[in-house]
Amino acid sequence: MKVNIETKFTECTAHAPASTANLGPGYDVFGLGLDALEDIVTVKINKSPKTIKNNLKIITKGHGKKNIPNDPDYNTSGIVARKIISDYNLHNYRCLIEIEKNIPVGYGMGSSAASAVATAISFNSLFGLEMDENKLLDYSAEGELASAGVKHYDNIAASLFGNFVVVKTYPRLEFIKIKAPKDLIVVICVPQIKVPNMKTEVSRKIIPRKVNLEKTVHNIANACSIVAGFCNQDINMICNGINDCIVEPVRKKMIPGYDELKKRSMEEGAMAFTISGAGPSSIAFSNSRKKSLHLAEVMREEYKKLDIKCETFLNRPSNGSKIVSKK
Ligand code: HSE
Repeated sequence: MKVNIETKFTECTAHAPASTANLGPGYDVFGLGLDALEDIVTVKINKSPKTIKNNLKIITKGHGKKNIPNDPDYNTSGIVARKIISDYNLHNYRCLIEIEKNIPVGYGMGSSAASAVATAISFNSLFGLEMDENKLLDYSAEGELASAGVKHYDNIAASLFGNFVVVKTYPRLEFIKIKAPKDLIVVICVPQIKVPNMKTEVSRKIIPRKVNLEKTVHNIANACSIVAGFCNQDINMICNGINDCIVEPVRKKMIPGYDELKKRSMEEGAMAFTISGAGPSSIAFSNSRKKSLHLAEVMREEYKKLDIKCETFLNRPSNGSKIVSKK
């Protein structure tokens, strides 16, 4: 790709939020940005030692640091950076990427997507690449290859744009952004269980390849209710649609105590409950802070019964990724 690159900047920092994908029936289609946690990525050019391999180096810090590789070939940000460097012919720059990993890695909170998005927008801004939103989405999605083995766009779109996003990939990549109701609260519960390497890839493989028409009709109807609910800013309508008879029944087997957790949460006031992305985190939906705090407590209690530690986070819809400094 031929672009005139003249950058007077040497450093750019971006934040990108966590997200939840699918929202029940919207497998690979729906994403919602969550505001409780975000990854922070700083890209520095020509500041690292002259000897770095292939002119790209990654440094990680933050809680999730030990759970992600530093080798750019296997790191979400590294894969995104390599693709941009190659397509925009930036090989002559020495790039150092510092990742502050705050979103739990491999727990269904769009952790890989957040780092990928923050990397893509940093490169775009630093080098003045003038990517449009579709390009940013597509380059960021390269990073999902590291955890899912395929490019899926739902977490990426939610982290990049924030709020609620519908992603279409057929016949071409397109997205629809819809503002989420400001009173919507998503309680996310992250169990401290061991997750397989490449968890998203593993949990995608167990989903049936063929689905019967009746179940497809149910899921489409529910998905439509969710979209209509976001368009109408109607939390009840959104939550009525969060029912999935295709993916949840198989994936819940990877989550200890899921049925009981869902039953209790619904009895205790959740307006809807489902798996967050590929799990093992679960999400409960609510419209009040008081109810949400109670739900978080209920979820922690349920895991305590199973002797499993868990963390809970209350989220409002996020406004998406942003560049926070450039110098
Ligand atoms: N749509 C993806 C999946 C989201 O369910 O595999 C992964 O977070």
